[in-house]
Amino acid sequence: PETKTFCLHLYKAKLSPDGFERVVWTVNGTYPGPTLVVTKGDRLVIHVINNLGVSTSIHFHGFFQRGTNWYDGVPGQTQCPIPNNTTFIYNFTVPDQSGTFWYHSHHLAQYVDGVLGAIIVKDPDDPYQNDYDEEVVILLSDWYHNETFTLLNYYLSPASKGLEPRPDNGLINGRNIYNCKWAPVSYKCIDNAGLSKFNFVPGKRYRLRVINTSALLSFTFSIDEHAMDVIEVEGMMTKRHTIHRLIINVAQRYSVIVTADKLVSNFWMRADLQIKCYYAIGIEHLNSYVKAIVHYEGANHLDPTTKGWAENLNRLNNCIDLNTSDLKPFFPENVPAKSDQTIYLNVSFEKDASNVDRGVVNGSTYAVDVDNPTINQILFKNQTLFQPNQNVIGHFNTSQVIDIVVYNGVTGEHPFHLHGHTFWVLGSGPVGTKPDFSKLNIFDPIKRDTATIPPEGWIVIRFEANNPGIWAFHCHIEWHVEAGLVAQFIELPHELRKLKPPADWEQLCIKSPNPYNDLI
Ligand code: C2O
Repeated sequence: PETKTFCLHLYKAKLSPDGFERVVWTVNGTYPGPTLVVTKGDRLVIHVINNLGVSTSIHFHGFFQRGTNWYDGVPGQTQCPIPNNTTFIYNFTVPDQSGTFWYHSHHLAQYVDGVLGAIIVKDPDDPYQNDYDEEVVILLSDWYHNETFTLLNYYLSPASKGLEPRPDNGLINGRNIYNCKWAPVSYKCIDNAGLSKFNFVPGKRYRLRVINTSALLSFTFSIDEHAMDVIEVEGMMTKRHTIHRLIINVAQRYSVIVTADKLVSNFWMRADLQIKCYYAIGIEHLNSYVKAIVHYEGANHLDPTTKGWAENLNRLNNCIDLNTSDLKPFFPENVPAKSDQTIYLNVSFEKDASNVDRGVVNGSTYAVDVDNPTINQILFKNQTLFQPNQNVIGHFNTSQVIDIVVYNGVTGEHPFHLHGHTFWVLGSGPVGTKPDFSKLNIFDPIKRDTATIPPEGWIVIRFEANNPGIWAFHCHIEWHVEAGLVAQFIELPHELRKLKPPADWEQLCIKSPNPYNDLI
């Protein structure tokens, strides 16, 4: 194991990912930010230099942070935000994880403005290491031409009627084209800004690490004429499973192996935005067929003329996720046979006193209290009671096995993410169905950290609450986070108190200004 040090310098820059120029909140001047590559067992020392003009925080999505809960990066739960013109150093190890991860701001909707990038954790014992020759990181994202403070001000007002901001475009590795006739006149915009291009050497096998960094929408990802074999779901290796299209929801990750075994030519890579999951209002100018080019070495440089896989009408008319019941763990899982506690959650949207639509979990919308994070209440105030709007949905003083049953009361889907853990997906079902607890899969379920709750459907997940800390459980649709669709678990607070936070820990909170001033 080594110590790997990285600098993430956050600052604003004018960029034109799709030809439309806007202020992008960059990491080291680029969008997406740099890919961090480490090896299982390494220590990551990450200097976050904040020159955004407002406070921030960085979350390392999918990492357990065992013993380092204060580096999980959640304002209001595990830290106070990093003030502007300040450097904060995240410092944690990855003793028992490998696979495809990402980092992103967890403060307000900053990741949607650009503060994100991939993290790859290599495993020296990767069971597939001889089955591919090269690795390619592919970040998919919906993309907005306005900065999120504008979008949020409108979304969180009665005027929006709860309609989430609609993207203007979709990007593959930060690139796409846009039709500038749709751009407001005073903005800089160039047509044909260019697509991402992936060079394939004929005969080589590629491990594509696909990450959906969207704010709202799921993607269907494919490469014309090339089937792909899924081998990884969010750090869990799976048995090879061949598919033609990979449906990937917000914050999810998969690795697939693709072989460059076709005649030397160019092929479309496609990432279709799943607009059916959120009804099609305000997207008249959205081209939901996002593309990149797979260029075989030796081919001409003309655009591909290939056709996509034959459309499946069922997919086009519904909002559905990848059928993950086809994915099987590569290494057998030891799923606990039963849970010690089952937590039932109802997720919905309701109007608050000012007529704004809020995300609610069991009747309560989450209100972030950035200057008084839960971790400080546990560490320094021995607090055991929390305000209802802190949405503490589990407080575990001993290690135990937890089942969460989530019912989705609305017609949109919700990709729920649990911090500090992976969980087994025991079952899920669409509208009109109810969980049959005798039919849950405790034999060979996949384990992941972000799973979709189908529209008006349900999911049952199981995890071991044995990691001391405050762990967020929230919908990863960033607009829903800001609307309050967030909850938290408090795990083993006695153990957490035995751990030592960084020396200047309380100083961070004293220096931090109220981030809601950031919005004005
Ligand atoms: Cu990817 Cu709570 O976040």
